[in-house]
Amino acid sequence: MMNRFMMLFIWCFVELGFGVNGFKVPFRPKDLLPILPKELTWPVLNNLHSAVDLLPSYVGSIGPNSGSIQWKGSCFYGNEARFEFKNPVQGDVNDDDDDKKKKSLGGGVIYLETSAAHSWTCMDLYVFATPYRVTWDYYFSAREHTLEIESWEESAELEYVKQHGISVFLMPSGMLGTLMSLIDVLPLFSNSAWGQKSNIAFLQKHMGASFEKRAKPWVAPINPDDVHSGDFLALSKIRGRWGGFETLEKWVTGAFAGHTAVCLKDEDGKLWVGESGHENEKGEEIIVVIPWEEWWELTLKDNSNPHVALLPLHPELRAKFNATAAWAYARSMSGKPYGYHNMIFSWIDTIAENYPPPLDTHLVISAMSMWTRVQPSYAANMWNEALNKRLGTECNLYKDDCPKV
Ligand SMILES: *[C@@H]1O[C@H](CO)[C@@H](O)[C@H](O)[C@H]1NC(C)=O
Repeated sequence: MMNRFMMLFIWCFVELGFGVNGFKVPFRPKDLLPILPKELTWPVLNNLHSAVDLLPSYVGSIGPNSGSIQWKGSCFYGNEARFEFKNPVQGDVNDDDDDKKKKSLGGGVIYLETSAAHSWTCMDLYVFATPYRVTWDYYFSAREHTLEIESWEESAELEYVKQHGISVFLMPSGMLGTLMSLIDVLPLFSNSAWGQKSNIAFLQKHMGASFEKRAKPWVAPINPDDVHSGDFLALSKIRGRWGGFETLEKWVTGAFAGHTAVCLKDEDGKLWVGESGHENEKGEEIIVVIPWEEWWELTLKDNSNPHVALLPLHPELRAKFNATAAWAYARSMSGKPYGYHNMIFSWIDTIAENYPPPLDTHLVISAMSMWTRVQPSYAANMWNEALNKRLGTECNLYKDDCPKV
C-alpha cells in the first residue's frame, strides 16, 4: 500500500505523464533525431537528411524596421518579404467590447513576393508566427502576395512585433498533408483569448471533454482547516504556452489534468503545497513547498487560466497517509529542478507511435522547432536538460557548444 501512496505523492511533484517510462526506455540516437533542432551540428545528422528535411526552416523575421528579407524557397527560388503596420481603427483601448478593443490596436500587412518557380506545379507553404498567433499561407504563383493581420490579439503582441517582428518559416515540401492538422494544433500555444478557445475546442473535439460555464463567482472559498495532508490538487491550464503544452499532454496521456500539486499540513496545523515549477531568484524553475496562502494567490494570478480541482483523500486512505514520510520526501525534493529533463521523453518514447492522429512526428517537430525560435528560453529548457541527462553532457544546443560525437 505504501508504494501506492508514494507514487501518488511523487506524481504531485512532477507533471502528470512523466511516469516511469522515461527511465526505462534505452537511449537510441534515432529516437532523438527526429526531434533535434536544426542548429545541431552533430555529424550524425548530416547522414540523415530525411529527418532534418522535415524541419520548417526559419527564413527570418520581418518587422517595421527590418526592411525586407530575401531567401530561396523550395519552389520559388526568389522570395522577398516585408512588413508594414496598418493604422488602428478609431476606438478606445479600454473598451469593453473585445473586438473593438483589438481593432484599436491596429494590425499589419505582410508583403511576400515570389518569383522564379522551379516548376509549374510546385508551391511553397509558409508559417508566420509570434508568441500570440500562428498563421500560414501557401503560394502557387509568382507575384506579390499580401497577408493581412486584421488586428493584434493584445497590446503585448503589438509591442512584440515592434521589437522582434514576425518570424517567417518555410515549411518543408510535402507538408501539405499536415496543413489541416496545423489548423488544430498551432493556435493552442497562443497566449490570447483565441488560444484559450482553441484549447477548449481541441479538448472537446479530440478527447470528448465537456466544458460547462459556471455561474460566478469563479473562485471557491477554501478554508485551509478543511484541507488535509495528502489532499490532491489537479490543475488544467488552458491558455498560453503551458495551456498549449498541457492540451497536447492531456490528449496523448489521456489525463484531464496537466499539472498536479499536493497539500501538506505541518505539526502546527499550517497548510503547505508541494509543487514543481516555481522560479527561484536565478530564474530557474524548481520544486518548492510553499504556504497555502501564497500558492492560492499565485494560482489566482496565473495567466494560463488554470482550472483547479481540490481532491481530498478518502478518509480511510487519509488515516493511512504517513505525513512524516511525506514531509521527509518533500524536504528532500525542495529546491530540485523542475523536471524538464524527463518531460518530453515521458511523452515521446517511441519514434512514431506517440501521436494520436492528426498529430504526427512531422507536426510535433514543426511545432517544437517553431516554438524554439519564437520562445527560445522555454524550449531550450526542455531539450537541453533532457538531452544532457541522456547523453551525460552539459551543453547548450542553442549555443552550439555541444561536443562533436
Ligand atoms: C512513517 O514514515 C516514517 C519515515 O519513513 C517511518 O519511520 C514510520 O515508521 C512510518 N510510520 C508508519 C505508521 O508506517
